Amino acid sequence: MKLLSKGAEADLYIAEWYGRKVVIKRRISKVYRNPCLDLRLRASRTVREAENMHEAKKASVPTPIIYLVDKESTTLIMEYIDGLRVKEALGMLDNSQKEKLCEQIGMKVGMLHSTSLIHGDLTTSNMIVCGDKVFFIDFGLSFHSHSDEDKGVDLHLLKRALDSTHYKESRDCLKYILQGYREVSGESYTSKILKKMKEIEYRGRYFSGRT
Ligand SMILES: Nc1ncnc2c1ncn2[C@@H]1O[C@H](COP(=O)(O)OP(=O)(O)O)[C@@H](O)[C@H]1O
Ligand SMILES: [Mg+2]
Repeated sequence: MKLLSKGAEADLYIAEWYGRKVVIKRRISKVYRNPCLDLRLRASRTVREAENMHEAKKASVPTPIIYLVDKESTTLIMEYIDGLRVKEALGMLDNSQKEKLCEQIGMKVGMLHSTSLIHGDLTTSNMIVCGDKVFFIDFGLSFHSHSDEDKGVDLHLLKRALDSTHYKESRDCLKYILQGYREVSGESYTSKILKKMKEIEYRGRYFSGRT
């Protein structure tokens, strides 16, 4: 097993499993949490991640195939996606490729939202470009909701991720993402979510200005 990533929540390894290249994602325990609550939280996020990756796939959003869910050891075994994270890919593309990629991301987020699935951690580190597809990963905080506010928060998080790592081109990227979102969700619905997104941004600024 080779270490792929060590995050705040989980350790990820690349391994071979029955002849397949896989990623093993193991949620690690947190000493500051009550041990019972800790195990419950890790187990529920593990199951939720697998279930919602499957839900997303049904909504035509590419996600890794889940091979194994082990609640006891809070471990997932999934397909390894041999690609580049959007975070790195964006910096390597010319304008028209960037437009295509961002539009596709927007369409896929629109598809998630149209099945009332909220990703919960929509950043460019949680999307992997592989061939002509964009895979979405890291569904541990995802949930179902019909609320415009929750959808607005999802898009707001994506905007923040773009602002922090691709600030020079974040405006264009967001424009293309919303273009894709609009194609899937329609003009009036997208305007509603955009309005929420702006409200959320304003609230964030207001509160961070006061603290
Ligand atoms: N199925 C996968 N195929 C390839 N790389 C992956 C896969 N899953 C995760 N990764 C890589 O590991 C990193 C961390 O995984 P992620 O599920 O986002 O966990 P974390 O909660 O630590 O962010 C990702 O940003 C990505 O680079
Ligand atoms: Mg992640």
